[in-house]
Amino acid sequence: MLNTRFDFSRLRTLTRFLNGSDARTEDRRPGARVLCVASGKGGTGKSIMASNVAVLRSQRGERVLLVDFDAGLANAHLLLGLAPRYDFGHVLDGSIQARDAIVVGPLGLSLISGGVGRHALANPTRRELELLFDALRPLEQEFDLIIVDLGAGLSYSTVAHLAAGSTLLLVTNHEITALSDAYALYKRAHMVNPHIRVGMVVNRAPDEAQAMSAWERFKATSFQFLGHHPELVGWVPADEAVLRSVQARKPVSLTEPDSRAARAMAKVAAWAPIEVARTTSAFYERARKALR
Ligand SMILES: Nc1ncnc2c1ncn2[C@@H]1O[C@H](COP(=O)(O)OP(=O)(O)O)[C@@H](O)[C@H]1O
Ligand SMILES: [Mg+2]
Repeated sequence: MLNTRFDFSRLRTLTRFLNGSDARTEDRRPGARVLCVASGKGGTGKSIMASNVAVLRSQRGERVLLVDFDAGLANAHLLLGLAPRYDFGHVLDGSIQARDAIVVGPLGLSLISGGVGRHALANPTRRELELLFDALRPLEQEFDLIIVDLGAGLSYSTVAHLAAGSTLLLVTNHEITALSDAYALYKRAHMVNPHIRVGMVVNRAPDEAQAMSAWERFKATSFQFLGHHPELVGWVPADEAVLRSVQARKPVSLTEPDSRAARAMAKVAAWAPIEVARTTSAFYERARKALR
């Protein structure tokens, strides 16, 4: 006999469950993939790389958040032609939520700025980093990809990111000074996170021969002393199109997409590990734990 008193609310619950849109399922949704961009030495082109990769991944329809974690000396907003009203300083002093510090840039990509010249952010304490990681944590559910532009060197906050992340883009130049600092960073990254996947980009190289020779030297040294080496994602030529794009405050991938540098950066943005740059638990939870 047909049960006319069928409980439709139970059916809806079951349907939601099977469709994977049950509230509990939602909480367990994997968060954003996270790509860290770091270098040993400063000025190697991290922010140029991070902002262009952010634009190129947005172009594919991904919801991208660029986090300028060069806290205190942030400049990603300049490269994107943005003037953020708020930055991490405001998040830290509790005046706003991290979400409210987001500014929307080219192709709808989102940026959170680290703030310029704020003393407290140049050397954040453990407590301040905990607060920032907690503040960023909810955003993981709102984006497909988070790209973190890290400051140069091996600061406490950079090491926490390296310990928590699955995927690192290591930006270097072909000079020995940049390579040597990149080696120090690579070694440290592996020490705190043996499973990290590291891809190297030789940026601002005069030509392919010098880029390849730098890469071969890096690879050989890493292998000799550590028993492993990163993979080569690509090399980007020194290109005046990049300088013009900095002047124009727009990523070169938008101003001169056919330039040699932009084409090389498109290859970097297509690096396959970016598709799977995820850890089993929330990135910012892991970063917080790494501070202990
Ligand atoms: N491929 C390139 N060709 C020419 N100039 C470049 C290239 N990459 C970076 N630069 C120059 O180097 C400067 C520093 O780059 P930036 O990304 O800010 O370095 P970082 O973030 O590592 O400190 C840029 O403002 C730009 O003038
Ligand atoms: Mg930078």
